[in-house]
Amino acid sequence: MDEQLTEVLRLYPTVARINRVATADTPLPEVRNDGKARIIRKGTTIAISADAFHKDEQFYPDPFKFDPARFNKENKAKRSPYVYMAFGIGPRNCIGMRFALVETKVALAHIVRNFEIRPSSGTPVPARMEKDMLGYKVGTDVRLKLIPRT
Ligand code: HEM
Repeated sequence: MDEQLTEVLRLYPTVARINRVATADTPLPEVRNDGKARIIRKGTTIAISADAFHKDEQFYPDPFKFDPARFNKENKAKRSPYVYMAFGIGPRNCIGMRFALVETKVALAHIVRNFEIRPSSGTPVPARMEKDMLGYKVGTDVRLKLIPRT
């Protein structure tokens, strides 16, 4: 199930932007038209769009397709690990990542064990997601039918 959850968070990262502050003057590899280096000055805040990386077809072909196989061992090995950042990146990434994945699987297992999940007349197909300053969330008007298992 990890591959499915990871693919959901690739398409709909709940935190779609990562911020960092440069701790030193940092030249970028590309030079400007005048031949000078581009430098990110110490103290500058950088906003990195996780969403842009996640939807870039050079890393994720057919990027809007839901395809959990992108995260199997073989396909993951073909990509830089730095182009997936639903839980952030580097030494200050999400400390709760493993807990969040376990918690989600346990919650889903309980729901699926006790209820059959069916679309209702209020279920938009495909699913309607909303995006705010932070990231994606399920639209408020998405309704599902939960039928208790007997
Ligand atoms: C699906 C659920 C979650 C997602 C998508 C998520 C995502 C993120 C992201 C993107 C960051 C920023 C990382 C960075 O800047 O590189 C972060 C940081 C953090 N998250 Fe989560 N998170 C989740 C669940 C949790 C849970 C369950 C906990 C605690 C039990 C948690 C605790 C933290 C903490 C403490 C930080 C700050 C880490 C630091 O600055 O060193 N998160 N999370």
